[in-house]
Amino acid sequence: MKEKELILKKNRELGAILEVSRVLTASFDLEKNLTSAMKTLSNLLDMQRGCVFLLDPVSEELRIAAAHGLTEDEIRRGKYRIGEGIVGMVIKSGSPMFVPDIGEEPKFLNRTGSRPQKKGISFISVPIKLKGETLGVLSVDRIYAEEHGGVDDDLRVLGIVASLIAQFVKLWGIYRKSEEEKESLRSQLKDRYNLPNIVGESEKFQAVIKSVLKVANTDATVLLLGESGTGKELIARTLHFQSKRAKGPFIAVNCAALPENLLEAELFGAEKGAFTGATSRRIGRFEMAQGGSIFLDEIGELSINLQAKLLRVLQERTFERVGSSKPIKANVRVITATNRNLAEEVKKGTFREDLYWRLNVIPIVLPPLRERKDDIPLLIDYYTERFNKAYRKNVRVSDEALKALMNYHWPGNVRELANMLERLIIMSDKETIELSDIPHSITKSQDVLPEVSPVTEKSSLKSEIVSLERERIIKALKENNYVQHKAAKALGITPRQLGYRIKKYHIDKML
Ligand SMILES: Nc1ncnc2c1ncn2[C@@H]1O[C@H](COP(=O)(O)OP(=O)(O)OP(=O)(O)O)[C@@H](O)[C@H]1O
Ligand SMILES: [Mg+2]
Repeated sequence: MKEKELILKKNRELGAILEVSRVLTASFDLEKNLTSAMKTLSNLLDMQRGCVFLLDPVSEELRIAAAHGLTEDEIRRGKYRIGEGIVGMVIKSGSPMFVPDIGEEPKFLNRTGSRPQKKGISFISVPIKLKGETLGVLSVDRIYAEEHGGVDDDLRVLGIVASLIAQFVKLWGIYRKSEEEKESLRSQLKDRYNLPNIVGESEKFQAVIKSVLKVANTDATVLLLGESGTGKELIARTLHFQSKRAKGPFIAVNCAALPENLLEAELFGAEKGAFTGATSRRIGRFEMAQGGSIFLDEIGELSINLQAKLLRVLQERTFERVGSSKPIKANVRVITATNRNLAEEVKKGTFREDLYWRLNVIPIVLPPLRERKDDIPLLIDYYTERFNKAYRKNVRVSDEALKALMNYHWPGNVRELANMLERLIIMSDKETIELSDIPHSITKSQDVLPEVSPVTEKSSLKSEIVSLERERIIKALKENNYVQHKAAKALGITPRQLGYRIKKYHIDKML
């Protein structure tokens, strides 16, 4: 071969290798990239057919992952076991093989059936290897003519291409695994914040669920209000995972956890050098939440300065990193929560009124547990089952213990109830949790209604009736575990009438 031709050939080879390395990373689709690589090889190097076989670690079979010059049917037929045929031998030995004329090689199985005329075709097969592990085989058909040059050149080029493919296949495996893990975590999260895991049948709680479902699929700003432990964060996550943003991120920020200047950088990010200690550019939570939801917990703690910045995000849907004036678009759904009375804070002047109205578009109030006592047994059942499963136990709560738990006022709400049950179940070495197992702090502060004062001789008939009625109502409430609609039924009056009397006789102050 003349020198000029040789240089041209080397250039073509180099071009082919570069092009293969480019197409291999062109998309996240393994087969598509490998097919383009085979096509590139055949176009640029004048090879007739090209195949990438990958080893399936489970079936230990070689399967064609991508090919050029074969029909789909031929691809499907091309399966080899380790050691079988030329391809199978390459995977077994981990070394390349060259068959000068497949027509004269009995080991050549032509399993794809793609070569009716075998004569005159050479076959080159090289292992796809990474760090000593053979992942598959790359093979090409070639009709050798004078100007093609030697087999050694082909083996060298194919060896380089095979090592590029090996790196790509490995990377792709890692990528796919991490995607699968992400997807499985996502579906676990989705399950966790699925409605069956949110317990509450009481009227008050069902009203909450109804609002959640109504607003989940809108981008409206939601303000969650309620005492500590009533489920504000749980509902915030549920809102996100029930919404069309469920595949996007859910980012939670506790506004009380950081001092003002750090919180600002945490929320909006900061450019390098924006303040002492900002040694590199920092992405803020709003940016992280793009396409998803941001949950601003304890929003009542936000400083006046940050209240102004948040207002701007809500009004203009843009923000800037600290130390930058470039506006960034915020495609984020905002969910906030507080256990403070924001309206009061507005009156006191510690919370901006305009921000309050922006946040208060859809307020959802989570009722405290003592206002929905009928949910207590359901929550106890739910958590008993969960902790029994987690700690491989089979503990139940006795009726007496249940009654005591229902008469407690639960200042820490569901969190307190769940924590206490977990402790009881871990500590219990009996099958049943009895009244005596319930902590003293709970049994001693029972919401027991005071006995009604005895009727004095002087009292009029009217007051006698009143006190009789009051007594009957209290008794019915006690007997029905403070579930108002049941008590009303027992008394033969409507829940509305009962509600009215509870207020009138100030019984609500004792519930
Ligand atoms: N309806 C419910 N069903 C099941 N579990 C619940 C329910 N409500 C709350 N919980 C559980 O109670 C615990 C406290 O809930 P969460 O953290 O959402 O309360 P919170 O209102 O954000 O409290 P805080 O104001 O103290 O931050 C969590 O473990 C949560 O899963
Ligand atoms: Mg919370």
